[in-house]
Amino acid sequence: MGHSAAVWDYRAATEVIKDWNGTDKVVLRNPQGASARVSLRGGQVTSWRNEQGEELLFTSSKAIFKPPKAVRGGIPICFPQFGNCGSLEQHGFARNKIWTIEENPPPLNPNDSHGKSFIDLLLKPSEEDLKCWPHSFEFRLRVSLAADGSLTLISRVRNVNGKAFRFSFAYHTYLSVSDISEVRIEGLETLDYLDNLCHKQRFTEQGDAITFESEVDRAYLSTPNVVAVLDHERKRTYVIRKEGLPDVVVWNPWEKKSKSMVDFGDDEYKQMLCVDGAAIEKPVTLKPGEEWTGRLELSVVPSTFCSEHFDLKSGGF
Ligand code: BG6
Repeated sequence: MGHSAAVWDYRAATEVIKDWNGTDKVVLRNPQGASARVSLRGGQVTSWRNEQGEELLFTSSKAIFKPPKAVRGGIPICFPQFGNCGSLEQHGFARNKIWTIEENPPPLNPNDSHGKSFIDLLLKPSEEDLKCWPHSFEFRLRVSLAADGSLTLISRVRNVNGKAFRFSFAYHTYLSVSDISEVRIEGLETLDYLDNLCHKQRFTEQGDAITFESEVDRAYLSTPNVVAVLDHERKRTYVIRKEGLPDVVVWNPWEKKSKSMVDFGDDEYKQMLCVDGAAIEKPVTLKPGEEWTGRLELSVVPSTFCSEHFDLKSGGF
């Protein structure tokens, strides 16, 4: 607080600290007092706070911070496989690996750097990874925090292999909500989805907006580039903008499944909702030398600034 953006030193606003078990964690801050934390374990965003210091991402009070499982909360990266739709471990291995900080990554658009605190991470496959997924890749992740508090994740996956490969992907985003019964999603109505609770059968969404009264585990297909999650009780709307990510996963485990997860509190399903920008139905194919980019931007606006202000169909950055 008390700093003007003009004199804010964005480099100094990016600090590397150790978490309790010695893994590096990067803290990003903006001049208004918003912050984000990114762990090198999984390249996982573990915290995103607004300028009042309120946490915007959910992390379970029962989360297990020891490998090999990803921490239950924040934004785990699902790559190179989403869910269990392949031969790899659930949601792929990227979320369980130690990423490195990359000082000089291939350049991004200058707008992705100016006026932002950011960190660049890199994941390359280990010998062990290549045994179960024999494709050489370079996965670059930029996480940035803007002056307005919005959080952007840019993933670039490059094929450095001699052969083409395919992967699926998701930013498994655990949003913190006041009470799941008071939440609705706008932007997915009338779309087709694959229902994980019905053997991935395809259905068409009927309602006006999506609300919650039981377990939901769906992948909405060919979605618009902007989706809004409205939290009535907190009068807060999360705006999710994405590019290169045609699908949106919506997940809430509800009561019964919550009780079956060791790293999740019995009642915590009321305070979270996963809404993931993803590429699932049509996996991404990369030929040798090709690169794919998937962007996600999360911002929060007061709910009075309601969905009419967003052109959900055209969307984008
Ligand atoms: C969601 C999936 O994205 O992640 C669910 O759609 C899954 O099916 C959930 O249960 C949590 O997965 P995990 O591996 O983190 O427990």
